[in-house]
Amino acid sequence: MRIVQVSLGNRSYAIKVGGGLLPHLGAECAQLKLGHRCAVITDSNVGKRFAKAALKSLSASGFEPVLITIPAGEKSKRIAVVEKCYDQLAEHRLERKSFIVALGGGVVGDLAGFVAATYLRGIPFVQVPTTLLAQVDSSVGGKTGVNLKSGKNLVGAFYQPRLVLCDLDTFKTLPKREYISGLAEVVKYGIIYDAVLFAQLERNLAKLLRRDRLTLRDVVARCCEIKAEVVGQDETESGLRAILNFGHTIGHAIENSSGYGKFLHGEAISIGQVAAAKLSQKVLGLPSGDIGRIESLLRRSGLPVKIKLNPTQRKKLFDAMKLDKKVSGGEVKFVLAEKIGRVKFGCQVPAELLAEAV
Ligand code: NAD
Ligand code: GLY
Repeated sequence: MRIVQVSLGNRSYAIKVGGGLLPHLGAECAQLKLGHRCAVITDSNVGKRFAKAALKSLSASGFEPVLITIPAGEKSKRIAVVEKCYDQLAEHRLERKSFIVALGGGVVGDLAGFVAATYLRGIPFVQVPTTLLAQVDSSVGGKTGVNLKSGKNLVGAFYQPRLVLCDLDTFKTLPKREYISGLAEVVKYGIIYDAVLFAQLERNLAKLLRRDRLTLRDVVARCCEIKAEVVGQDETESGLRAILNFGHTIGHAIENSSGYGKFLHGEAISIGQVAAAKLSQKVLGLPSGDIGRIESLLRRSGLPVKIKLNPTQRKKLFDAMKLDKKVSGGEVKFVLAEKIGRVKFGCQVPAELLAEAV
């Protein structure tokens, strides 16, 4: 097992990465000195596979868990579902010391984290991410929230979990398309922070694609380490944390303008990263060779790297971009790369360059 520490003063926590961790969920929670009552929030797909093991482990360690299951999918990430969770927590008399376990992908993690942040003005929560995307990104760093009709993640809170338990065995049932979608965020860490990781991904892609456990352990732990370092320096995204959004301004707009569900998050982010790389060349002089390596690694991973748009779709996409949370003073700001492994945030991009890149 690998352990990565997120250092945030009295809100610090460990991320544990390895195989066979879910049966130890109860014992791990027991070390956190939480109340007896807890709720496992999961979705309809993940619950079928892993809720029993989670509940059994919690009960064996003396906890009294209840199960809350939401429908699987991005459409569940909305206020109406949050309210249903509050009602069930209240019905089961969860109190201040009680805690929530978020068992699932980024949808469950974001939603359950937001429920934990706001129910009784905040109760502890533990992340048990079961998708690659959730293990390397969404479960770490405390961004929680839900979507509005007008945009993704427009309501939320920074609220850190008490523990993140990344059980690599949960990937055994993860559909191929979901797994590959997570690789887009993995590649992102190489681009924004770690040229050595990027080169390792290029070399070890075949092993990653066959979900080799040791390769996965090292890659997931390295991504978590990078995220922990960034979040440790800038928890609430007043500066550096923005680098984690490389490719996301365009990616979120693709998700939003095409209707949530057409593209998976990682797929949209993959297209967004290639567009951001092209912009980077024009604005910061990113070498063509680096653009080629980024595009090729994403393509070899099985991810889409471009999108065809008619004029109406293009307008929709640009409108969606203006609604992005990273808009400041009416201007969309971008994270752009100088070279693989080094990026700048807060970059302004002339509209005509943006139009060419998308
Ligand atoms: P997801 O949670 O919808 O999971 C994808 C699908 O896989 C779902 O159908 C789910 O039921 C299923 N699934 C999950 N784990 C499984 C497993 N082990 N076996 C079988 N099926 C499984 O999607 P996701 O890609 O994990 O997360 C996407 C969400 O994460 C988006 O809402 C995005 O905005 C959010 N996100 C948040 C952050 C953050 O910092 N908070 C960062 C990146 C993304
Ligand atoms: N996924 C972006 C962030 O956590 O800041």
